[in-house]
Amino acid sequence: MKFFIDTADIDEIRDLAETGLVDGVTTNPSLIAKTGRKFTEVVAEICAVIDGPVSAEVTALDAPGMINEGRKLRQIADNVAVKVPLTPDGLKACKALSAEDTMVNVTLCFSAAQAILAAKAGAAFVSPFVGRLDDIGGDGMALIADIVEIYDNYAAFTTEILVASIRHPMHVIEAARLGAHIATMPPAALRQLYDHPLTDKGLAAFLDDWAKTGQSILES
Ligand code: G3P
Repeated sequence: MKFFIDTADIDEIRDLAETGLVDGVTTNPSLIAKTGRKFTEVVAEICAVIDGPVSAEVTALDAPGMINEGRKLRQIADNVAVKVPLTPDGLKACKALSAEDTMVNVTLCFSAAQAILAAKAGAAFVSPFVGRLDDIGGDGMALIADIVEIYDNYAAFTTEILVASIRHPMHVIEAARLGAHIATMPPAALRQLYDHPLTDKGLAAFLDDWAKTGQSILES
């Protein structure tokens, strides 16, 4: 399973890149707005830090506008994935940009039917938003299970399932259990994956006992 981080905060990205566990980054207009910085500059910086795909989202609503914006974003770096919304125009833009060998991430996916359309449009990635579905009383993970099952039926569907809108480690665990290709998560959720109180407790006990021996590994 690949891990992407869902942020446009370059300091967070640099910090987490050092873990060696980050395979890509996803951004959206809200995350870019939060930085207060110039969109293209932020994307260029992220692309220089991360080798894997970096999603940058278009803001036009019509297909020709999305294609133009997508071509401009694509020029920033080879690892830019152009993010388009799951609308009829977004899927037209997906088809056109994919035909130009641009990676396209189709975002704001909330149903299996929409995920089928994204695969048929040649998307490199489809982003089902599990947290936002859960927020309205839906079942985000049931959607992931449906998409995994459907895509597995067709060798021609090469779109990777990029589980988005992740809120907590259980979303990551369930996505992995279901065989989703990628989980994109906020930095805090990735850091939470390390945590277990028994790890901290066990380590403290080991170190207490070790201190009693008076030994040092490097001096033995
Ligand atoms: O970047 C897309 C998605 O991950 C957004 O998540 O937390 O705003 O629902 P969230």
